[in-house]
Amino acid sequence: MIPTEETKGAALKYDRVFNFSAGPGGLPLEVLEEAKEDLLSYKGSGMSVLEMSHRGKAYDGIHMQALADLRSLMDIPDDWGVLFLQGGASMENVLVPMNLKMEGSTPSYVDTGYWGHQSIKHAKKLTDLTVAWSDEANGFTRAPDDDEPEFTGAENYVYYTSNETVDGIDYLRDAEFDSDALIVCDASSNILSRPFDLDKYDVIFAGAQKNQGPAGVATVILSPQALDIAAKQDLPLMFSWDAAHKGHSIHNTPPCFTIYVCGLYYKWLQRQGGIEMIQVVNERKAKLIYDAMDGSEGFYKSKVPKSSRSLMNILFNLPSDELTEKFLEDAKVEKMVTLKGHRSTGGVRASMYNAFPETGAVVLSDFMNAFAERYG
Ligand SMILES: Cc1ncc(COP(=O)(O)O)c(C=O)c1O
Repeated sequence: MIPTEETKGAALKYDRVFNFSAGPGGLPLEVLEEAKEDLLSYKGSGMSVLEMSHRGKAYDGIHMQALADLRSLMDIPDDWGVLFLQGGASMENVLVPMNLKMEGSTPSYVDTGYWGHQSIKHAKKLTDLTVAWSDEANGFTRAPDDDEPEFTGAENYVYYTSNETVDGIDYLRDAEFDSDALIVCDASSNILSRPFDLDKYDVIFAGAQKNQGPAGVATVILSPQALDIAAKQDLPLMFSWDAAHKGHSIHNTPPCFTIYVCGLYYKWLQRQGGIEMIQVVNERKAKLIYDAMDGSEGFYKSKVPKSSRSLMNILFNLPSDELTEKFLEDAKVEKMVTLKGHRSTGGVRASMYNAFPETGAVVLSDFMNAFAERYG
């Protein structure tokens, strides 16, 4: 989104930085201002969303509208479930095997990076499983082609991570694996950044804190088949997708303020023209950074091939640790923060979710060009 005079003014007023955080990520300034406006008295109710009953009319309106807006943004049919659950994406790593359990079947996992690997570790505590494809031996560089993972044919579900936040690897497509099993996707770091064709999925889940709102909730999207299987499990209330679905995710006290801010975010995304429009902006932002990398004559290096380059989390390395430190320090002077790579990868990681302003990508690409010119 090209900033308007108004948002530029507000960014200056609050001395906002370019926040490249991988999560929680930056929120649109408009969303923060709306939340600020409502903070002490929500729409004349005399109380904050932070204080109101989750069973009251005002919160019910906020909650149901947020669910409806997520449905409309992602074109989710009425017979699918949409849940807001606590425990983040990591909780879903646990709830997936519990809710999709089927006698005589075990799942297969695709191991593409840090988060895919974590999901396998969690699931192994609850079920036998097969790893259908792993790039661990190569240090995680890419997403597989559709026909590379090898399935047993006896799966209850196939699990993959559509964008590896730590490794900067994205499928850049809806995977179409050769499997009749339910397809489960952790889309924490690229949900709402591009269209997802729901015909290719049964479960999509995502922690909200990157591309939907603040931390505190994971959205879970369930096909009718996934809902049916979940309904057959006998699980305690807080583990049960079925209970959450039937209770509209108010089966216990939900994280009301987080869901309210997610609702503001969904409205903001609708005002941007929805997912198709934000995808165009995301592609433009990422291209600026990848062009700076590719034009640097090897000064900036990435292990990820073009076919798997994430638009949300862009990783690169400089020729030495000293230059990396210098890069990060000099970037801070230009108000670019949180560019340091994850502890497991090192280097630089520029995370640019939907809300990250396009001007920030221009500033980073200019900075990269000048830095490479000077130290290359
Ligand atoms: C792809 C992916 N999956 C799972 C997680 C874990 O999310 P949470 O911290 O909400 O449990 C993250 C967090 O960064 C992530 O990026």
